[in-house]
Amino acid sequence: MENQIHIFDTTLRDGEQSPGFSMNKSEKLRMALQLQELNVDVIEAGFPIASDGDFETVKEIGKTITGSTIAALSRTSKGDIIRAAEALENANKPRIHTFIATSDIHMKFKLKKSRDEVLESAIKGVELARSYCDEVEFSAEDASRSEPEFLYEVFEAVIEAGASIINVPDTVGYALPWEYGQLIKGIKTNVPNIDRAIVSVHCHNDLGLAVANSLEAIRNGAQQIECTINGIGERAGNASLEELVMAITTRQHDFSQSTRIKTSEISASSKLLAEITGHGVQPNKAIVGANAFAHEAGIHQHGVLNNPLTYEIMTPESVGLTCNRIVLGKHSGRFALSKKLENLGYNVSRDELNQIYLNFTKLADEKKVIHDSDLRNLVADVMPHKKVSGDSTISRS
Ligand code: KIV
Ligand code: ZN
Repeated sequence: MENQIHIFDTTLRDGEQSPGFSMNKSEKLRMALQLQELNVDVIEAGFPIASDGDFETVKEIGKTITGSTIAALSRTSKGDIIRAAEALENANKPRIHTFIATSDIHMKFKLKKSRDEVLESAIKGVELARSYCDEVEFSAEDASRSEPEFLYEVFEAVIEAGASIINVPDTVGYALPWEYGQLIKGIKTNVPNIDRAIVSVHCHNDLGLAVANSLEAIRNGAQQIECTINGIGERAGNASLEELVMAITTRQHDFSQSTRIKTSEISASSKLLAEITGHGVQPNKAIVGANAFAHEAGIHQHGVLNNPLTYEIMTPESVGLTCNRIVLGKHSGRFALSKKLENLGYNVSRDELNQIYLNFTKLADEKKVIHDSDLRNLVADVMPHKKVSGDSTISRS
C-alpha cells in the first residue's frame, strides 16, 4: 500500500456550492494560493461549464498555481468536458474530473438513463477527457447507494478507457464507516484492473460521519481523500481537511500513512476562508475552533499549565497557533488565576490571592469570561490604596 495519502481539496468547488459560500475570482485565487502553501496535492478549482465566472477562475488558478494539480469538474457530456479542458489549457498539472451517477435512484429519476446508457456515457466521457488531458479522474456519483456489481463494472470500464483515479462518493452522506470500508475493499478486490488506478473517496457529512468514513476508507486501501477547509460543502458539508489530516498525523502509528500537508498552515487556511466567506466555524470545531486549544476548567488548567500533554493530544503550534488559551471563567481554580496574575505582572501574597479569588468567583458567576481588565479591577479592589497601573507597590515582573 502506498504510504502517501493524496489530499484533494474541493473547497473551491464542492465547498463553494453551499448556500452563502460563493466566492469571486480574486477571492478564489487568494484561497488557491493559501491551499498551495498548505501543500495540498490537488485543488479542485471549479466547474467550468457552470458559469463564465467559474471558467475564468479555473483558467486563472491554472495559470498561477504551479505546486498543486488543478482539477476542473465536468459531467460526462461533450460540452462539459471541452469547457473543462479549455479552462485547464494553461495549467501546469491539469486534471479533468468527470462524473456521472451510478445509483438506481439517480439513474431513474435524475438522469432518466438505463445502466447501459450510463456505462456508455462514462466510457465516452473518460475517452474524450483523455484526448485533452493525461490525468483523468472519474467519479461514480452516489456510489455508496449504487449496486456494487454495477459499480465494479463501471470502474473497470473507465480505467480501461484511461481514468487513473476512480472516486467513490458518498454523495448524500448516508454510509456508515464499516459499510463504506467494505465498499472500498470490495472495489479493490473485484475490479480486475484496479492496480492501474488510485482509489479516491469523497464523503459528505449528513450524518456527521464524513471524516470517520474517509478514515475507514483509508484503512481499506483508499489513497486519495477529497475534503474541504472547515468542512464546508453541500448541505452538512464535506469531510474536513484539518480533521482528516490531524487524525492521520496524530495517530500516524495506527495508519502508517502520512500526507504532504504543511500542518502549520492549517489555522491560516481556516481563518482566510472564514474571512473571505464571512462564515466562521463554531467555537468547539475540532482543530480550528476558538476553543480547540482553550481551557477553562480548573483541573484541566492545572494539568495543562504543568504539562500540556495532560489535556492536549497535539500542540497548538502544529496547526499554526502560537499557544493554547487559558480562559478564566467560573470553572477556573486558584492555580490558573495565580498564573494569570503572574503573567499580567502581579506578585500577590497567598492571602491576597485568596481574597482576589473569592471576588473572582462572584464575578465569574455573572460573566461568561473574565478579561484582563476585570482582573486588574479585582486586584485593585483587594488593594484599594494602590493604583494598578504604574504603581511600584504591586510588583510586576
Ligand atoms: O458529492 C458528489 O458526489 C460530488 C461529485 C461530483 C464528486 O461532489
Ligand atoms: Zn460532493
